[in-house]
Amino acid sequence: MGISYTPNQVTVACGAKEALFLAFLAICNEGDEVIIPAPYWVSYVDQVRLAGATPIIIETDETTGFKPTVEQVASHLTPRTRAVVLNSPNNPTGAVYDNDELRTLAETLRRSDAVIISDEIYDAICYREYPRFLRVTPDLANRTLIVNGASKTFAMTGWRIGYIAGPEPIIKAIRTIQSHSTTHPTSIAQYAAVVAYTPSEEMDRVIEERVHTFLERRAVILDALNNIEGVRCVVPDGAFYVFPNVSGLLNRPLRGGTVCQTSSDLATYLLEHAHIGVVMGEAFGAPGFLRLSYAQGTESIVEGMRRFAEAVSE
Ligand SMILES: Cc1ncc(COP(=O)(O)O)c(C=O)c1O
Repeated sequence: MGISYTPNQVTVACGAKEALFLAFLAICNEGDEVIIPAPYWVSYVDQVRLAGATPIIIETDETTGFKPTVEQVASHLTPRTRAVVLNSPNNPTGAVYDNDELRTLAETLRRSDAVIISDEIYDAICYREYPRFLRVTPDLANRTLIVNGASKTFAMTGWRIGYIAGPEPIIKAIRTIQSHSTTHPTSIAQYAAVVAYTPSEEMDRVIEERVHTFLERRAVILDALNNIEGVRCVVPDGAFYVFPNVSGLLNRPLRGGTVCQTSSDLATYLLEHAHIGVVMGEAFGAPGFLRLSYAQGTESIVEGMRRFAEAVSE
């Protein structure tokens, strides 16, 4: 990724999930605040709470492409802010910060002494050039933690390999906590990850093909969603999710007269009546939305969307 680290500045963990949890445990004390823009990946909030700190949520919506404005970030920074989480490409929205947005965010973050936790786990699944936080803001390297892993890039989710890179004192604290919990991911999985991470033209080709396939599926699922009355969906720039606004389907009779009041009700309704699995926006701090994954074959997506459309027709 064009940024160099010494071995003492990197730790391998049991997935990016463990890396993030260890980071919150290492840096947070009771009373600390951690800024998390919503919609957010489900585990950040609970991990911060488990570390004894308070999650401070910044709400965003489609009008800013699900990205917090610099004014929002500035107004949530306090002397108690211990960390700010950035996740680009984002799960669930697929939002990607561009270089200018990262530069402006960095100007604000420079005025605090918060640690920046940059979760870049979907960096290889990006449908435009991927702007990397530390490339834009190398001067913040001394308080930026980069989180990444093998789960998404190499579809190695079950192998549980993630990593975190950053300032040596924080990585040292992370290793101490890890040594009293999981010790380290299995050596077997680590050797498998070495193969995955060893640069090769073949691997580059495989990743490129996957991104191309995701791009085709994204078009299929967006087209289907935007043809459903009451649903609108922005185009995600990365990851393999769409995050449609479904508020137009709430509080009105669906097929068979069912009325859903929340996106959580709608997710349950779709599971029970259409037998399709979607995740309610509430899980990501964004009621009124659903998250759909297109990490499925195109046939399944087409069939799933047919059932979705049918189930929500009046
Ligand atoms: C944004 C984000 N961060 C971290 C993770 C954790 O990934 P893993 O623990 O599989 O490496 C996920 C998994 O879905 C994710 O979506």
